[in-house]
Amino acid sequence: MYSAILFRTIFGKTMRKDPQARILHKQNWGDYFILALESPRITSEAHPGQFLMVRVGETSFPLLRRPFSIHAVQDNALEIFFQTTGLGTRQLSLKQEGDRLDILGPLGRGFNLDIEGSTPKAALVGGGRGIAPLYFLSESLRLQGVSATIYYGGRTVEDLPLRKKFLAAGYPLHCSTEDGSYGFKGLITDHLIQDLKQNPADRIYACGPDGMLKRLAEISQEYSIPAELSLEAIMGCGFGACWGCVHRLKKDQEIGWQKICEDGPVFPAEMIIWEKE
Ligand SMILES: Cc1cc2nc3c(=O)[nH]c(=O)nc-3n(C[C@H](O)[C@H](O)[C@H](O)COP(=O)(O)OP(=O)(O)OC[C@H]3O[C@@H](n4cnc5c(N)ncnc54)[C@H](O)[C@@H]3O)c2cc1C
Ligand code: FES
Repeated sequence: MYSAILFRTIFGKTMRKDPQARILHKQNWGDYFILALESPRITSEAHPGQFLMVRVGETSFPLLRRPFSIHAVQDNALEIFFQTTGLGTRQLSLKQEGDRLDILGPLGRGFNLDIEGSTPKAALVGGGRGIAPLYFLSESLRLQGVSATIYYGGRTVEDLPLRKKFLAAGYPLHCSTEDGSYGFKGLITDHLIQDLKQNPADRIYACGPDGMLKRLAEISQEYSIPAELSLEAIMGCGFGACWGCVHRLKKDQEIGWQKICEDGPVFPAEMIIWEKE
């Protein structure tokens, strides 16, 4: 039976906890996994760019939940797409269809889908596992009448497991690999620059490693294309209570600390202060 709980924290925030989200489907390619979770209430409230905090183990170890972007939504279910990088993601990868997961969400501020213009175009740039939120985003942009072109980069072809999914959904797709094993040889940001000349965009949306996001912030300035970038941080709580995820950002000409989990994870490129700046 469905059992999402709406609860209020001591900080006055509300969120949904679904301790019994059933795994409907599991798929994997090497280190990359998709889990489809039945959670009607969280699914119905999800917005692209938001994330879930997932309890990965059966016991209190590891103690902290792990954050994962909402990758796709359909009917009563949502999907997460993840790469195994450590203990928590390895535990999660062992879950099977029919198992239950304890999830909190949807959390954070997602992408702004409003783009001006009669035939708006968006460039969606994903690096490795950073492609995760861009499928839900592309489907939502399509409903808004925005044409999305996908730029998907990885070290090698094995880092591009979702390329067939985007192609099957009918999106123009540009892939790059650093070793040249698939698509353009080099960085996805270089491929984007090449393609922008023939295929200009009104907005860039991106998620991936910091180096890629920083380069995209420069491209956004050079080409005068507004960009929305999804940042990562190690998160203790995911809902603003622990201050574990703070990052320096510019707002109204002032520089201050903001919480990636609550004020983000998506920020306009011009707000972000990159390390060493
Ligand atoms: C808002 C948000 C959304 C995310 N969405 C996705 C997603 O959709 N798919 C996906 O594969 N990953 C996603 N991540 C990253 C994911 O949360 C981490 O890979 C995961 O928590 C690592 O847990 P672990 O126990 O396996 O690794 P650990 O054993 O804890 O650490 C392994 C390595 O990963 C690094 N790491 C740990 N936690 C994070 C973190 N939160 N962010 C970045 N690096 C981390 C550690 O520094 C270490 O190098 C997201 C992170 C954030 C903040
Ligand atoms: S993760 Fe706790 S405040 Fe952001």
